[in-house]
Amino acid sequence: MKPITLALAKGRTADDSIKLLEKAGVPFPNFSYDSRKLVFYDTSGSIKLIFVKAVDVPTYVENGAADLGIVGKDNIMEAQADIYEILDLKLGKCQFAVAGFNGDHPQKNHILTVASKYPTVARNHFQQKGVPVKVITLNGSVELAPIIGLADMIVDIVETGTTLRENGLNVLEELEPISTRLIVNKASFTTRSESVHTLIHTLQTGLE
Ligand code: PRP
Repeated sequence: MKPITLALAKGRTADDSIKLLEKAGVPFPNFSYDSRKLVFYDTSGSIKLIFVKAVDVPTYVENGAADLGIVGKDNIMEAQADIYEILDLKLGKCQFAVAGFNGDHPQKNHILTVASKYPTVARNHFQQKGVPVKVITLNGSVELAPIIGLADMIVDIVETGTTLRENGLNVLEELEPISTRLIVNKASFTTRSESVHTLIHTLQTGLE
């Protein structure tokens, strides 16, 4: 039977996912943490792992290039992909937050500028509040934006809070809690139901 394809977000998410699978008795003998290979099979050949950038995992799953994916809720929310989210692996816990300088009171009629690696999340949040904002997309070091005057505030993930603290910024508003999730392609959920449920069960066993 054709192996089921699982897309893993490269880095800690992939490493943690492989540990979970191995703990549940599904080893990947050819996998090594320092390898640059992007495709691995388990011993039985029934699971094919592909390593992709975290932001791309929802795209692979939505388009059926992978049956399933393991990725952070932050990337799922930003991608707004048409997929099912079926399991919270409770790894990589952090939180979306609006952050900036405390006590900043923007002048009336001043449109707030918000910098983020998650422009869709940022835009949706302020839209829901009915606050007009200009969103600037950055790819990293987002905390710099309010410091150098590129933006009034940021929407970003906060884990330990160290990056905000060391840059003199504060959480102004706590948003969605984030953790690693298992997502599935909608067609695969039906057509490959047995393999999908076996994988869910395996991951749950690894989490126990
Ligand atoms: C992430 C995030 C914050 C930081 C939060 O950045 O965008 O900057 O981690 O973690 P903390 O609360 O534990 O400090 P990342 O490390 O991915 O770097 P980046 O700036 O290149 O995006």
